[in-house]
Amino acid sequence: MNSAITLLSISSLLGVGSACDSAAQRPTPTPFAIDEAAIAEAAVAFDDGDLIQISAAAVPSRHDSPSVRVWVSEDAEAAYRATDVGAVAGSAGSARFPVGAMIVKEQRDAAGALAAFTVMVKGPSGYAPATNDWHWQRVTPEGMTTHAGQVQFCIDCHTPRAGVDWVFGVPEQNQTP
Ligand code: HEC
Repeated sequence: MNSAITLLSISSLLGVGSACDSAAQRPTPTPFAIDEAAIAEAAVAFDDGDLIQISAAAVPSRHDSPSVRVWVSEDAEAAYRATDVGAVAGSAGSARFPVGAMIVKEQRDAAGALAAFTVMVKGPSGYAPATNDWHWQRVTPEGMTTHAGQVQFCIDCHTPRAGVDWVFGVPEQNQTP
């Protein structure tokens, strides 16, 4: 576990420990604050060994990117691998992710150069009830966050997948062992 992932632990998401801060200098952390900088850092470091590679091969995206691969934090692996990719809107969910679970989609252009990372991180219960508590973030290859929070265009496109905890999943035949 690197520090970026550790920062996504439940306690940091919840702002637990704030009571011990020297209250005079530091503002009380917002409850349920998500650490966007740590998420961006973890996304850019997608292949340094802390995230688990799910997509065996880069494949064209079902929407906009010539080449995508999906990586997940350890605590997201079981639920992500088990996602029913054929599930239809309104079906019962087959994937349920723990708080702090992180999913990173690595997107490349036609020339194979990194184009962006799109990231989902599961916040605590009540963080974002409309999207089953997911945080949405887009990060450039340089680590700059361009969109974060309840990003409407992300949510719009993922809405048909609400019944499977908002994720599309990777078909079993393209999953790493
Ligand atoms: C045009 C539709 C569309 C938009 C807009 C979109 N997504 Fe997705 N997303 C998909 C599809 C389809 C997949 C499945 C992988 C693929 O084919 O690219 C996916 C996969 C993902 C994944 C991998 C997990 C999974 O669902 O299997 C993440 C993480 C993700 N998207 C995050 C985001 C974020 C964050 C945004 C906004 C910044 C966003 N997406 C915007 C359609 C979309």
